[in-house]
Amino acid sequence: MVAVLRHCTQGLRPMLAEDLPRVMEIETRAYEYSWSEQIFRDCLQSGYSCWVYLQEGEIVAHGVMMEVAGECHILNLCVDPDWQRRGIGRRMLRHLLGVARRRGADTAFLEVRVSNEAAIRLYESEGFCETGRRRDYYPAAGGREDAVLFAKAL
Ligand SMILES: CC(C)(COP(=O)(O)OP(=O)(O)OC[C@H]1O[C@@H](n2cnc3c(N)ncnc32)[C@H](O)[C@@H]1OP(=O)(O)O)[C@@H](O)C(=O)NCCC(=O)NCCS
Repeated sequence: MVAVLRHCTQGLRPMLAEDLPRVMEIETRAYEYSWSEQIFRDCLQSGYSCWVYLQEGEIVAHGVMMEVAGECHILNLCVDPDWQRRGIGRRMLRHLLGVARRRGADTAFLEVRVSNEAAIRLYESEGFCETGRRRDYYPAAGGREDAVLFAKAL
C-alpha cells in the first residue's frame, strides 16, 4: 500500500509518516504558530484522516480531520504559500468533507483565527456558518486572539 502511495505524483493521497519533513516545511512557512511534527505523528497514529496534495510530484498542501460520533472536525488545512489562490485549499476541504460524509458524519466543525480572512472566506463560501467565538483562544503577537467557530451540515 505504501509503495503504491509513493507512486502518486499528482492530486490527493493519504499522508505518510515519511511526508512529515515536507509537511513541516509547508506548515512553518504558512503559519506563524505552526503545529509540531509530533502533533502530526500523533494524528497519524490516532488514525485521523490525514491527507496531502501533490503537484508535479511535490507535496504542496495538507489537511487533517478527526471523526467522532457522527461529527468531523477539520483540525488543519494548509497550502504552501507559493501555491495558494489556485483552488487547492478548496479542493482539500471538499475532499475531507466528502470522506467524512461517506463515513456517516452529519456535521463538520472547525475553528479559525478571527484575523484569518482568507480561511474565513473559504469556509463561508463552502457553506460553513459561524456558531460562536472563543475568546483569547490562540496565541498572537502581543497577546491572544479569538477563535471563530464554524459548523456545516453535511
Ligand atoms: C486558507 C487557505 C487554506 C486557502 O487555501 P488556498 O488554496 O489559497 O485557497 P483557494 O485558492 O482554494 O481559494 C478558495 C477561496 O478562499 C478565499 N481566499 C483564499 N485566499 C484568499 C486571500 N488571500 N484573500 C481573500 N480570500 C481568499 C477566496 O474566497 C477563495 O475563493 P476565490 O478564489 O473564488 O475568490 C490558505 O490560505 C492557507 O493555507 N493559509 C495558511 C494556513 C491557514 O490559515 N489555514 C486555515 C486554518 S483554519
